[in-house]
Amino acid sequence: MKEALYIENGFWQSAGTLALRNALTEAGLRHGLRLVVRTNRDFLRPDSLRKLPGAALFWDKDLRLAERMERAGLRLFNRADAIRQCDDKTLTWLALRDSGIPMPDTLLCPMTFPNVGYTVTDFLQEAADILGLPFVIKQGRGSFGSQVYLAHSVEEAADILRPCAGEPVLFQRFIEESAGRDVRVYVVGGQVVASMGRVNLTGDFRANVENGGKPVQHAITPREEELALLACRLLGLDFGGVDLLYGKDGPLLCEVNSNAHFKALQSVSGVSPADAIAAHMMENIP
Ligand SMILES: Nc1ncnc2c1ncn2[C@@H]1O[C@H](COP(=O)(O)OP(=O)(O)O)[C@@H](O)[C@H]1O
Ligand SMILES: [Mg+2]
Repeated sequence: MKEALYIENGFWQSAGTLALRNALTEAGLRHGLRLVVRTNRDFLRPDSLRKLPGAALFWDKDLRLAERMERAGLRLFNRADAIRQCDDKTLTWLALRDSGIPMPDTLLCPMTFPNVGYTVTDFLQEAADILGLPFVIKQGRGSFGSQVYLAHSVEEAADILRPCAGEPVLFQRFIEESAGRDVRVYVVGGQVVASMGRVNLTGDFRANVENGGKPVQHAITPREEELALLACRLLGLDFGGVDLLYGKDGPLLCEVNSNAHFKALQSVSGVSPADAIAAHMMENIP
């Protein structure tokens, strides 16, 4: 039996995170891997990183803890750098923009200070000129669709942007063909383990299950597979959930999640990525 830590967030715990932990710890045992559950609250003390297992399944976004653990010699799944690049969509775009992976046209919002705010918003007219209206506004660090917006006018864009002061933000061409639908591909250890479609019939352009998207079976195409594998490889992910949009000329990369939940995916594909993650860790734990 090998041993590794399972790190989860100590402040946000829900039925979903509990189910995830159970799925992963049980899959671990099936593969000879004991996952010892800890939260990011358990490592305040400077000496708390002594005498730990040599690896961790890091299911959190506490990047500072991830980096401390790596410096203490632990092999993290996913690695801190990979989590960092996925956790912020502006960084993901920067990492992949020259890779040849097609993505919707994207502009990075100029940064302002949280205590200053967007005192001027003239650049939003420029964004609208380049991307057309409506265009998509995303906070870099959003998830579950909750920080992804559609701005139908420059004024609406300014209203959306104002509360985001201090946060990384991007503007993106709205891919109309993909409104309310996308594809989620789950990659583990350089292989696609499962995929699903998501279809939102509520009128919301976001396909996330949290916004009313319904998971549907999906037969992955070779091109979708190619993009998902390349994105995960370039981002250095051991495992990840890749969102693809339906572009006019084929799939477009939407975003990559370093710790994507998989309940909905499992319900329609019949595959739990947990076993693949455990097997991948067993192969790669030093
Ligand atoms: N440029 C876009 N054009 C059309 N739909 C989009 C675009 N970007 C995102 N979406 C929709 O919004 C959803 C949420 O966006 P995403 O970037 O995946 O953020 P989150 O991290 O919140 O899931 C996507 O699953 C997709 O359905
Ligand atoms: Mg998404």
